[in-house]
Amino acid sequence: MPPHGPAIDRRTVLRSAVVGLAGAAAVAGTSSCTPGAPNNTMTSHEKKPQITTSEPGGNGGRVLLSCFSRAGENYYDGGRIHLDVGNTEVLAGMISALITCDAHRIDPAEPYSDNYDATVARNVREQNANARPAIATPLPSIEQYDTVLLDSGIWNVRAPMIMTTFAESHDFTGKTIHPITTHAMSGLGTTEKDYAKSCPGAIIGEGLAVRGEHVRDSGLDIESWLRRTQLLQG
Ligand SMILES: Cc1cc2nc3c(=O)[nH]c(=O)nc-3n(C[C@H](O)[C@H](O)[C@H](O)COP(=O)(O)O)c2cc1C
Repeated sequence: MPPHGPAIDRRTVLRSAVVGLAGAAAVAGTSSCTPGAPNNTMTSHEKKPQITTSEPGGNGGRVLLSCFSRAGENYYDGGRIHLDVGNTEVLAGMISALITCDAHRIDPAEPYSDNYDATVARNVREQNANARPAIATPLPSIEQYDTVLLDSGIWNVRAPMIMTTFAESHDFTGKTIHPITTHAMSGLGTTEKDYAKSCPGAIIGEGLAVRGEHVRDSGLDIESWLRRTQLLQG
């Protein structure tokens, strides 16, 4: 359930992402995370997915950070707030500032409304229909990656259906997935179970859940999780 009130219930990374954003290595078209600080954002600047090239991450493997985030009217501590940058995108920027990774933004072919209630209603329809909302700029391949960070908000206690579109579009066999969420109160929701089902053969590693309202204050928790998962060393 959506949080109607409490109803619901790159190193440094980003170097690569930076490069991507700067428009360098725009291979096949994409969008990538702007590195760095919470105020940085992921920018979609081409119609094709653009992936950046990074050095191996802290655990020696290549890391992809795939993020879906929605700006606009959102839930905030029982009320509503307008977000110029979605919470999950802020979190992705903070992670990208700490590790070496390539970043990819999952943009819907049909954008979600800025209106919170309209988005809740659309999400209910998509969940009930077990829909696979189309991605505007799908990544051609994740073959080069050993670890994939699947980063989204929680919608009705699970990841938005477009994350399933992404998850089912690729072969995750032998790859490690870390679910990452921002949320109002549902934590990781059912993401671990859902990604295990959508990505057969993947290893589901420890997830990270951050309350959307607190994302900008969560730097220590993020760093601690990155070290536990060996995405950040030293
Ligand atoms: C359609 C919709 C449904 C939501 N459902 C939940 C939910 O079930 N549980 C929860 O904790 N938060 C829920 N939320 C709150 C979001 O997970 C939270 O605000 C998150 O940080 C949004 O990330 P974003 O700004 O990157 O899109 C929902 C928000 C929306 C828009």
